[in-house]
Amino acid sequence: MSEQPARTLVTSALPYANGPIHIGHIAGAYLPADLYVRYLRARKRDVVWVCGSDEHGAAITLRARKEGTTPRAIVDRYHEEMQGAFRGLDIDFDHYDRTSSAEHHEFAQSFFLDLLEKGAFTEETRQQFYDPIEQQFLADRYIQGACPKCAHEKAFGDQCEKCGSALSPEELIGPKSTLSGATPEMRETTLWYLPMDRHEDWLREYLEQGKLDGEVHHDPKAWKAHVLGQCRSWIDGGLQSRAMTRDLDWGVPVPVEGADGKVLYVWLDAPLGYITATRNWAAKKGVDWEPYWKDKDTQLVHFIGKDNIVFHCIIFPILLKEQGEYLLPHNVPANEFMNLEGDKISTSRNWAVWASEYVQDFDGRSDEMRYVLASIMPEQKDAEFTWEDFQSRVNNELADVLGNFVNRVFVLTGKFHGGKVPGASGQWTDVDEALLSLMKGTPEAVGEAIERYRFREALQHAMGLVRAGNKYLTEEEPWKVAKTDPVRAADILHLALQVTANAAVVLAPFLPKTAARLTDALGTSGLPWDAAGGSLVPEGQPLGPLPILFEKITDEQVAEQQAKMGPELEGMRDVEPEKDETTFDDFQSMDLRVAEVLSAEKVKGADKLLQLIVRTGYDERTVVSGIAEHFSPEEVVGRRVVLLANLAPRKIRGVVSQGMVLMASTEDGGLRFVTPEEGAEPGDIIR
Ligand code: 2FM
Ligand code: ZN
Repeated sequence: MSEQPARTLVTSALPYANGPIHIGHIAGAYLPADLYVRYLRARKRDVVWVCGSDEHGAAITLRARKEGTTPRAIVDRYHEEMQGAFRGLDIDFDHYDRTSSAEHHEFAQSFFLDLLEKGAFTEETRQQFYDPIEQQFLADRYIQGACPKCAHEKAFGDQCEKCGSALSPEELIGPKSTLSGATPEMRETTLWYLPMDRHEDWLREYLEQGKLDGEVHHDPKAWKAHVLGQCRSWIDGGLQSRAMTRDLDWGVPVPVEGADGKVLYVWLDAPLGYITATRNWAAKKGVDWEPYWKDKDTQLVHFIGKDNIVFHCIIFPILLKEQGEYLLPHNVPANEFMNLEGDKISTSRNWAVWASEYVQDFDGRSDEMRYVLASIMPEQKDAEFTWEDFQSRVNNELADVLGNFVNRVFVLTGKFHGGKVPGASGQWTDVDEALLSLMKGTPEAVGEAIERYRFREALQHAMGLVRAGNKYLTEEEPWKVAKTDPVRAADILHLALQVTANAAVVLAPFLPKTAARLTDALGTSGLPWDAAGGSLVPEGQPLGPLPILFEKITDEQVAEQQAKMGPELEGMRDVEPEKDETTFDDFQSMDLRVAEVLSAEKVKGADKLLQLIVRTGYDERTVVSGIAEHFSPEEVVGRRVVLLANLAPRKIRGVVSQGMVLMASTEDGGLRFVTPEEGAEPGDIIR
């Protein structure tokens, strides 16, 4: 769409509520959207920006399991944490929602039924991977194996996070359950599938030519090459059917009779969260939500990271098109990944800069982080954040250029003009004219880059004006000129003040706190973007006190932040100290062997004990095990375990126990079986 849309609906990927927000998230899908939206708001355009927590899917249930708690507890905790992190960095959504809400469940269910009626899905009974130990079907993150495309060893059942490919579990090489490590079996289940191959033709036209139903829809040249490239390679590879439901107990229940124990696929429910969020935003505002999703004058833009491209450019558009009334995205300006100090950001390894921690450690100095992330944003390729680079950008650019320039302007105005904006003679020199013309062109240059999703370039244009202003002051030396030619000195300061006021407008999306301090001090608050380019502060206007804009980042701060990262420090569990040395002979004296649990029952009057019959390969015997609070008898029967077989028999609660089953006790006080790999048989000796 080349002409201006009547309204813009902006979405940012709904973050999984399974962990805190780090700077990789911020640089990927939130800061760019925030810059875009702040700019559109400053242009007085009709724009709404929605987001929310993605509270379903294996990302959540696996986390809950790991922490020994419920999915509800996990999503409640991180829904709060994430909102705090966003607020801390001035990520200013119009509405932040969540997908576990009743409103969202209802909406997602009605959307699913609508598509079902329209014939968008096929109901099929197929073989699915099943974990015989955990007794559940395995999909998505419940299953891991090597990626068939790039050979990455830890690809998930729905996606390889290394190469971004969308996968089905059957495609994985050497699949294993992420729950038990077991090699899965195949079992039959009935699921609803989205036959995506039906949609290849129109998708190609939509993505490559920007046409929908034969009409111009958007300019495909405005899309990032890497986004189109990924889409093209998926379509060229042939689109497979994809299951839109899962056999799980956490999610939006499939609203069909007889579908108990089935929920919607998280990638069906999550993007519908954008619509739920818009509906809830509109209800709060008392306006109609539908134009934002259905009116052809609306422009829909999804900000995401590159691992979400297939879902936003192929799957969600298919769902929307099948429904028929909704708009399709006009652009999906996905960012690539942000690395950190030479390595990939990793939550589990604590290789991350956590947004909330940053805000705390740096006393809420959000602009500095926003500035650095915008400067190095991974727009076209992966980028890298380092603390030394952070320090040098804050110190050399924000403090030494912007801070220094503004400080000189205010100090000189105070000294020579009693803190009031001096008038100008209108006798501009060539040097003045050059600066005036840069000032005039800057808002458009910045805006134009933002509208092309080139935020780094936009920031360069905005800072270019500040640099030019700083250089102008240095070279024109008004403090010297004032002694001989006060009229000329006043002209210089007048122009420098206009540059400052203009810089405050064009930097406002990037540095909202700094811009607000500046406009407060200049008395120019509330000026719209379109006012910028010319004279903004009138002669005689008194300047307010100028707060210190930036403090330098010290080497100590850098070292402190660097030391925080990594598993040895934060987030490391309290590990039990190693026991005293033992001997090989002592070890050899233990008869450890694989055994199979044949039956299990509770020991009467003992809450903690299970009485097991185990097969050791040469006998069947009774073992009493203190695991009844962690496992039901049904969960234990059929397992292969490791047995200490020659432990002296002991009578426990009247039962003679002949051996001990080995367990791992986890940090959260839970217990896990020590399970031999598939193929080990009762009687196999452990040495
Ligand atoms: O990758 C993620 O973090 C997903 N939770 C993004 C979902 S985006 C949308 F579709 F909701
Ligand atoms: Zn891969």
